[in-house]
Amino acid sequence: MTGSAVVTSTSDVTDAANVTGVMEMEGTADVTGATDATETGEDIAATATRLAARLAETVRLVGEAGRARLWCVTSSAREPEGPAGLAQTALWGLARVAATEYSEVWGGLVNLPEKPGDDDLSVLIRLLGSRCREDVVAVEHGAASGSRLVPYRPEARERVTGRRPARPGPLCRAGATYLVTGGLGALGLRVAGWLADRGARRLLLLGRTALPARDRWDAVREPVTRRAIDAVRSLEARGVTVRAVAADVGNAAGLARLADPGALGLPPVRGVVHAAGVVDNRLLRAYDEESLRAVMWPKVAGALALHEAFPPGTLDFLVLFSSAGQLLGLPGQASYAAANAFLSGLARYRRAGGDDAVLSLAWTSWHGLGMSASSEVVDAELRARGTADITPAEAFLAWESLVTAGPAGGADLAVLRVLPLTPGILRPPLLRDLAGDPGPPPAPGADEGPDWRTLSGTSLTDLLRGEVRRAVAATLRTDPEAVDVRRPLAEMGVDSLLAVMLRRTLSERLRVGLPMSLLWNRPTVSDITDYLAEQRRSDV
Ligand SMILES: NC(=O)c1ccc[n+]([C@@H]2O[C@H](COP(=O)([O-])OP(=O)(O)OC[C@H]3O[C@@H](n4cnc5c(N)ncnc54)[C@H](OP(=O)(O)O)[C@@H]3O)[C@@H](O)[C@H]2O)c1
Repeated sequence: MTGSAVVTSTSDVTDAANVTGVMEMEGTADVTGATDATETGEDIAATATRLAARLAETVRLVGEAGRARLWCVTSSAREPEGPAGLAQTALWGLARVAATEYSEVWGGLVNLPEKPGDDDLSVLIRLLGSRCREDVVAVEHGAASGSRLVPYRPEARERVTGRRPARPGPLCRAGATYLVTGGLGALGLRVAGWLADRGARRLLLLGRTALPARDRWDAVREPVTRRAIDAVRSLEARGVTVRAVAADVGNAAGLARLADPGALGLPPVRGVVHAAGVVDNRLLRAYDEESLRAVMWPKVAGALALHEAFPPGTLDFLVLFSSAGQLLGLPGQASYAAANAFLSGLARYRRAGGDDAVLSLAWTSWHGLGMSASSEVVDAELRARGTADITPAEAFLAWESLVTAGPAGGADLAVLRVLPLTPGILRPPLLRDLAGDPGPPPAPGADEGPDWRTLSGTSLTDLLRGEVRRAVAATLRTDPEAVDVRRPLAEMGVDSLLAVMLRRTLSERLRVGLPMSLLWNRPTVSDITDYLAEQRRSDV
């Protein structure tokens, strides 16, 4: 499906040929260390965070040293059945970001079954010594498979799973309470409105920050609080009882009290949307453990506190708001990706345990809303992968279709817009089977870029240097002659946003996928020219 919002779910591509072939391994580092079986939500959250911290730090160290190839091996994180596998699911998101940010040293992530057989271990060893084009590989029964998103077609899934889609019907019961964590945030308030559209009459909106006392509401000017007050008033005007609760979602004891029907004088909670989250984007080279812990806390500890407060069977729905950045390997999102991958893992874990009510939705950006609003870098990174944001209306439409499909749709889904494949788009492995549409042919007379792959020697180098120089000049809005080919681009004003733009311009013009790390490792026009010429030589 192209040009529209699509809902997709993960499925396997069993093709060992796809997972062999990229890099020679010069060294390995096992960073899982997840041998300690943990039981409580707090333990699992602590383990997940510790593992993510350890992997992030290891990636940074190995990346800086630049001499070893780093692989991460997880165990039973694909379909986690126990706490250890569940805790490791966070590493999958982090791995995909590591693959983007440190493509030169990143080997891949391989997941093994809990008790790998000799044939599994042989495959693992072969993988470690091979050139791997997948960022996450699952090894099972002696075979390796990458993950792929596939377009969401509930009828097809029904045939596979044998589960009938549920009858469409009202999502919420008038006599129940619905909890939205992060409920006073940008998406949380929209969700609250949508739940009210779907029949909810009692809403608990949970955030860290309390609303001011009601008698001061008219005087509030600060925009975020003003937006929350206006939204609450408008819900109340529709006859909805709204209770805004200031609490930390990761505080399991506090959350358990909310699950107690008597505590708030409201009927029992029958549906939960977990939309609490914080973001602190920073590249792995600027990795900071405190930041990672802060970003993981509301999603990981919060989701586990909800998991304990509302065990399977107690809710009509538990929807975990994840982000597609964890699947696309968006740079700067290592901690956020780890946190969101954990939500996907928890949804798989609960579904494997028979909970049909759970759903993790890895959303692309909601246009103009919330924590990803106005991020030109994120938009450019999405476009570079052939994806884009969606409108809130499209988001709810997608969600609606899942409600209609019922559990047959799967528990771990992504919602993103897929753009037609055009030259220069570098689709991450997960998206490669999604949209084969090569896009419209170039208009007659359109500039298709130079045919550099037929050249060699100095004519190749001269052409490439000219192209790179012109692209830099266009990015910096200057004259190509003013671009010093030996001066680091960062010194000339190419910041992280311009670096994304430049990489994209070059990709499109030369019709080649370029790694995110290109400008770090090849900082000058001459260096980039050499890189492209090397690519041309390795093609031959
Ligand atoms: N916006 C997007 O396009 C987008 C895309 C993909 C996924 N998502 C996901 O959607 C969710 C909502 O995002 P948003 O854009 O609406 O962000 P937002 O406006 O920043 O809202 C996040 C909310 O989470 C609350 N929160 C943070 N930590 C908490 C904690 N420990 N306990 C309780 N509440 C906590 C915040 O409350 P305080 O302000 O009081 O701290 C805030 O109200 C997030 O999980 C995000 O990852 C968003």
